[in-house]
Amino acid sequence: MTSMVIVAPDYTQLCELVAQQISARVQAKPNAVLGLATGATPLGVYTRLVQRFQNGTLDFSGVTCFNLDEYYPMSATSPHSYHSFMQEHLFRHVNCRPWFVPDGQAGSDAQVAETCREYEAQIAASGGIDLQLLGIGRTGHIGFNEPGSPPESRTRLVSLAPQTREDAAESFGGLAHVPHQAVSMGIGTILEAREIVLMASGTAKAEIVRAAWTGSVTERLPASWVRTHRNIHLYLDTDAASLL
Ligand code: PGA
Repeated sequence: MTSMVIVAPDYTQLCELVAQQISARVQAKPNAVLGLATGATPLGVYTRLVQRFQNGTLDFSGVTCFNLDEYYPMSATSPHSYHSFMQEHLFRHVNCRPWFVPDGQAGSDAQVAETCREYEAQIAASGGIDLQLLGIGRTGHIGFNEPGSPPESRTRLVSLAPQTREDAAESFGGLAHVPHQAVSMGIGTILEAREIVLMASGTAKAEIVRAAWTGSVTERLPASWVRTHRNIHLYLDTDAASLL
């Protein structure tokens, strides 16, 4: 059982450490399956993975990636989609094929449910996720598993919490443009990863990190479930760790 908290002096060092952990996983297992996250927090990690690919120290040719979530409804080609985000910040720069993001454009409820089942089946067929990278939202969400998400939940359509929509408003040009729903891997999907790396940066995350890491393990705070995992690394900068 590994449960480690690693505190870096600043965001730059934080991203360097997380990039090192991901690189080590891929070097040890060239056909690794990575679970990846969007948001501001992992951006510096992706920059470093791209640098490592470009200087020849990291090869993604055997790697498969699955992203945590996608807004719904959302066309993959929209500049607001997480599909576009991942293409822009990682996948157009590296040789990782295939990579998957949940489908945000299925039409009926039945079609959404079917694409969610397919996503789970693709993860299983790839051999399961070796390393899952997570951010944490100010609601305590991981992926888009908002408070109330049960530990056995799987990839499904979810409703976004008001605070999550507010936090996304600026990038959408106003709250009215932020979708109300998303397709997200479940807590159960995430907990099946063989290794979890949760990263957080900045004072805005300090309180939720404290609650998730030291309070009760509860559906009210989805990130708290990671503490039940047997191989969890919590990477923080000093600001995010300031209330621990
Ligand atoms: P952030 O988002 O990295 O943009 O803070 C984290 C999250 O919502 O999981």
